[in-house]
Amino acid sequence: MALPNDNIGVKTREVLAAQAHIWNHAFSFINSMSLKCAIQLGIPDIIHSHGRAMTLSDLVNALPIKNNKAKRHDCIYRLMRILIHAGFFIQTKINEEQEEEGYLLTPVSRLLLKDEPNLSMIPLLQLIFDPIMMDPLHCLSQWIQNAGDDQPNAFATTHDKQLYEYARDDARFNCLFNEAMASDARSITSVLIEHCKGVFEGLNSLVDVGGGTGTVAKAISNEFPELKCSVFYLPHVVEGLEGSKNLSYIEGDMFKSIPSADAILLKWILID
Ligand SMILES: C[S@@+](CC[C@H](N)C(=O)[O-])C[C@H]1O[C@@H](n2cnc3c(N)ncnc32)[C@H](O)[C@@H]1O
Repeated sequence: MALPNDNIGVKTREVLAAQAHIWNHAFSFINSMSLKCAIQLGIPDIIHSHGRAMTLSDLVNALPIKNNKAKRHDCIYRLMRILIHAGFFIQTKINEEQEEEGYLLTPVSRLLLKDEPNLSMIPLLQLIFDPIMMDPLHCLSQWIQNAGDDQPNAFATTHDKQLYEYARDDARFNCLFNEAMASDARSITSVLIEHCKGVFEGLNSLVDVGGGTGTVAKAISNEFPELKCSVFYLPHVVEGLEGSKNLSYIEGDMFKSIPSADAILLKWILID
């Protein structure tokens, strides 16, 4: 007996596949927005502190939901389905006898814990998901079509100023940006110090150009007390940064000049 599907012509199949392709692309933001939602609700931390597989009911009860908790069961169930599919959580039987299942973290969601020192990606994700960073994505075509020389990217088109000028003028965004950079720096620094020690041996001085609040330079200066380290940074980044015996902070604009040193460290700077 022929299945209904067999009657569908090749052309129709192609159109259906093309539609599915477009639907997938058009709605792919649901993945990142679900991740944003999970972080804002603190779901990874809640499951982590539960200490064992957490049922949907336990999760809903533990969530900071003000009204109608019962009505949110379905939403959280669906949210968790997306996040399981995306590899952020797994679902497992609570125990052999019972049918009930519970959620557990995966190696990926360990990086979404607030208190995971040197590993948490939360500050970086908070920056990426902030409307100030996301709004320009709605303006790409407007930027391409209309931008003058003073608008080298969609951020400038949207906010009428460049990213670092925006950070200079908006204390909340400045903090968000600096903390995001510092969290990325923390995650890479231990690897750098542990596995790339040889790179620093024999140097007398090093300057970290655009070194943010100094996370990387601080770690290097602690590890190599004889190495004179400096962080070259924009004045607005943080006022009153304090150095140490072999760490100093120098304000300036890297496009005008940079201090001389045996080595120049450029981390996440060439984009500028
Ligand atoms: C993408 S962040 C990277 C920060 C740090 N290197 C890190 O990886 O964590 C770029 C940094 O360059 C700094 N910056 C941008 N323009 C600069 C300029 N003209 N002179 C000095 N620093 C600048 C910013 O303040 C910011 O801290």
